[in-house]
Amino acid sequence: MRIPLSAPDVLQEDIDAVAAVLRTPRLSLGPKLEEFERAIARYTGAAHAVGVSSGTAGLHLCIRALGIGEGDEVIVPSFAFIAVANAARYEKALPVFVDIEPETLNLDPSRIEAAITNRTKAILLVHTFGCPAELPAILEIARQHHLCVIEDACEAIGAEYDGRKVGSWGHAGVFAFYPNKQITTGEGGMLITEDPRIASKFRALRNQGRTDSNDWLQHTELGYNYRLPEMSCALGISQLKRIDATLSRRQEIAGKYNERLRGIGNLRLPALEAPRRKLSWFVYVVRLSESLTQIHRDWIMYELHRRGIGCARYFAPIHLQPAYRSACEPRSDLRVTEFAASRCLALPFFNRLQDAQIAEVCENLSELVHLAASRTSKELTATSAAGF
Ligand SMILES: Cc1ncc(COP(=O)(O)O)c(C=O)c1O
Repeated sequence: MRIPLSAPDVLQEDIDAVAAVLRTPRLSLGPKLEEFERAIARYTGAAHAVGVSSGTAGLHLCIRALGIGEGDEVIVPSFAFIAVANAARYEKALPVFVDIEPETLNLDPSRIEAAITNRTKAILLVHTFGCPAELPAILEIARQHHLCVIEDACEAIGAEYDGRKVGSWGHAGVFAFYPNKQITTGEGGMLITEDPRIASKFRALRNQGRTDSNDWLQHTELGYNYRLPEMSCALGISQLKRIDATLSRRQEIAGKYNERLRGIGNLRLPALEAPRRKLSWFVYVVRLSESLTQIHRDWIMYELHRRGIGCARYFAPIHLQPAYRSACEPRSDLRVTEFAASRCLALPFFNRLQDAQIAEVCENLSELVHLAASRTSKELTATSAAGF
């Protein structure tokens, strides 16, 4: 793609930090892991931070560490990345999908209680696209029903609700550092928690079920290799140092998009602010209006790709994935999820996106939305080249 959907922001100081680790004998479970964990704990205000090999690994360890297993149910949004539901299924627990709020695209608190049964063990909420979920309301429901709360903050590092960082509200929170994220470690994730017992469980589980005894061949429980290498930690430390500037830059880009796209018919823009929240921009997602269809959205996407402009349909609902056909339980209708998923379109979004690139994306999008709106779904399918 001439203008990619996302791109990591790696500076010379990041490269130097990673190279320096390679000159040491410790490439795993060394001082950089401890330093990165301390830095994330400080940044988020959490008591404990535990580095893991990915956000998915982190979600899996939350399910394991909180004792969720076969026959248990976990409330999750379907408008999310598939790892959210997979984490429950890894332990033979059942993901129960609940619909989202149309504004924030986050789990709708008013729909959670209807999905709770005596098998429900946890609510796994997602801070979608970096916008904090309705934390106080969800935590109150969890308290009343004695449920655990896992915060998937993989897309939301640095976001805040009432001045408190996301990830630090529930029993445990997870961040992810894939290259499209606000900060990257290549692959990687970080768990945070206030509970020292959960933290020590995380440490054992990520390292083959070893305890802290330093006895390499002593395994007290079934564990995994979910370790985060020293090189990744060095990159994470270096990236975290400039996170404030990164988040401001991303907010600025979102503002520039909104300015240019304002007034284009049939297009709903993301809100730049939300009450009581500080956003952490992960992706920039527009939505097509109700009068257009999923076919219009897919055609626009196809045409943008043809013109060298990266874009994606964030998110495809999990409950409609082939891997989930017989493995999930929507307790309520997922109308908002399905509608949002059929109209969403993520545009190129990364720190070094230039004004001229933003202008090019907006001009093309504006033209294509206009063109699409002048045709029916049938006409679009008939006139498009193979592949659409
Ligand atoms: C909401 C959400 N949860 C979990 C993950 C999984 O993170 P990872 O790709 O590091 O396994 C992602 C990654 O994109 C995500 O967006």
